[in-house]
Amino acid sequence: MKKQRPVNLELTTISFPPAAISSILHRVSGVIMLVLVGLLVWLLAKSLTSPEGFSEAQAIFAHPLVRFLVWGFLAALGYHVLSGIRHIFMDLGFGEEKESGKITAVLAIAGGVVLAILAGVWLW
Ligand code: HEM
Repeated sequence: MKKQRPVNLELTTISFPPAAISSILHRVSGVIMLVLVGLLVWLLAKSLTSPEGFSEAQAIFAHPLVRFLVWGFLAALGYHVLSGIRHIFMDLGFGEEKESGKITAVLAIAGGVVLAILAGVWLW
């Protein structure tokens, strides 16, 4: 076996390009939504059962942890949709070059942060 193979395990020296970060965030946001969508469907179902059920759902939603989880879902959704649209455009053959891929990745991440802030302002 070749003895002098390149080795780089110094994690602090490895910096991910924006497109890689965007891709990881896309998967993470998808998993976050997958986990939390059950909570939202349960809350919706409860709110639709009766006027009492609606008040109960309102009370559950007022809990800070539940509100935070709903915010997490909305923040993930905002980023996932932006990044998903980026993916769809790339699948159609637009913005596939290295430079444009970098720019759209940065735009998707920045847009995701803005949408997460707006979701927070809306919820609190
Ligand atoms: C509750 C709703 C959603 C859930 C739970 C969800 C979940 C996921 C997951 C887990 C992945 C796989 C990510 C990976 O393997 O890297 C994915 C991929 C994808 N999602 Fe979603 N998603 C949702 C909504 C959306 C919406 C609204 C869009 C519209 C833009 C979208 C666009 C995409 C695209 C284009 C991909 C493929 C990305 C690729 O080619 O790597 N998703 N989604």
